[in-house]
Amino acid sequence: VLPAHVTIVEVGARDGLQNEERVTTADKVNFINLLSKTGLKHIEAGAFVSPKWVPQMADSQSVITQIERTSGIIYSALTPNKQGLELAIQSGIDHVAIFGSASEGFSQHNINCSVSESLKRFEPVMLLAKQYNIPVRGYLSCVVDCPFEGPTPPEKVASVAREMIDLGCYEVSLGDTIGTGTPLRIATMLESVNQNIPINQLAVHFHDTWGQALANIYQALSMGVSVIDSSTAGLGGCPYADGASGNVATEDVIYLCQGLGIETGIDLNQVAEAGWDICQRLGKLPSSKVSLAIKAR
Ligand code: HMG
Ligand code: MG
Repeated sequence: VLPAHVTIVEVGARDGLQNEERVTTADKVNFINLLSKTGLKHIEAGAFVSPKWVPQMADSQSVITQIERTSGIIYSALTPNKQGLELAIQSGIDHVAIFGSASEGFSQHNINCSVSESLKRFEPVMLLAKQYNIPVRGYLSCVVDCPFEGPTPPEKVASVAREMIDLGCYEVSLGDTIGTGTPLRIATMLESVNQNIPINQLAVHFHDTWGQALANIYQALSMGVSVIDSSTAGLGGCPYADGASGNVATEDVIYLCQGLGIETGIDLNQVAEAGWDICQRLGKLPSSKVSLAIKAR
């Protein structure tokens, strides 16, 4: 059964812009301010990661302190360690997210430690977040395939996801980081994870590299998943996963939901406008088919 309502977690300003070199702080602030007027309820606004690893996110503190915060919207950021969380707290963030991997290879390349080391490193992050009453989301990457190791066993995804919930994450977002998943594999993976974790604590985070993201989202929706990560204009990728193109486009997810009679509370045209605005600044076209179709109308 399909959910009646879906929450979209907008990751364009983080997952999207972490891969863009020519984007100013003012452009990011403007983009997030436009998104804040669309009905989106959760906007990921930056990442407090090492600037040596991802220089594109080095201005997250400035971005988060400069945006016009709309009440009722959760503004969040990635925090891989305590150092990142301290900076996030200083910026007045609402929610943070830790991010781990279901595969060892990606863990090493993305956060420079093993899966088990990462879970240890998250403990002090969870403790400090709790002290400040900051809810923590968990991302799990490579839930289908790893760019370094090939297929990820669904049981491995299930066990690491469960460890993130046990650490205190309110939700785990399951990432098909390189977008190779197809609906059957998504179903098998979700069934495995759902044995350990209730469906209302799971979100899906699909990259559209192989054009399968919408089909995979439909599969996840049909299994009761009601939190979808997406990126306006389909911006994005991952600096540590070669060829990982953008996330599924927010516009495309909204259009899919509209057609399925699923409520999102988001204005499709306004999201599309925000997408055209940031893309113009980036000198590219949105990769959202829905956005291109709206413009061509
Ligand atoms: P490390 O080099 O092992 O860490 O990196 P370290 O503790 O040895 O620190 C090295 C230097 O970084 C030190 O500076 C620290 O101060 C500094 P130095 O003493 O050399 O001058 N540093 C920091 N600075 C600012 N903020 C911080 C911070 N931490 C350390 N928080 C670390 C380990 C995890 C920090 C690093 O690997 C890192 O930042 N990785 C982040 C990579 C990243 O952002 N990837 C993209 C996001 S994940 C993603 O896109 C996937 C997702 O979308 C889901 C999906 O699609 O699957 C979420
Ligand atoms: Mg991602």
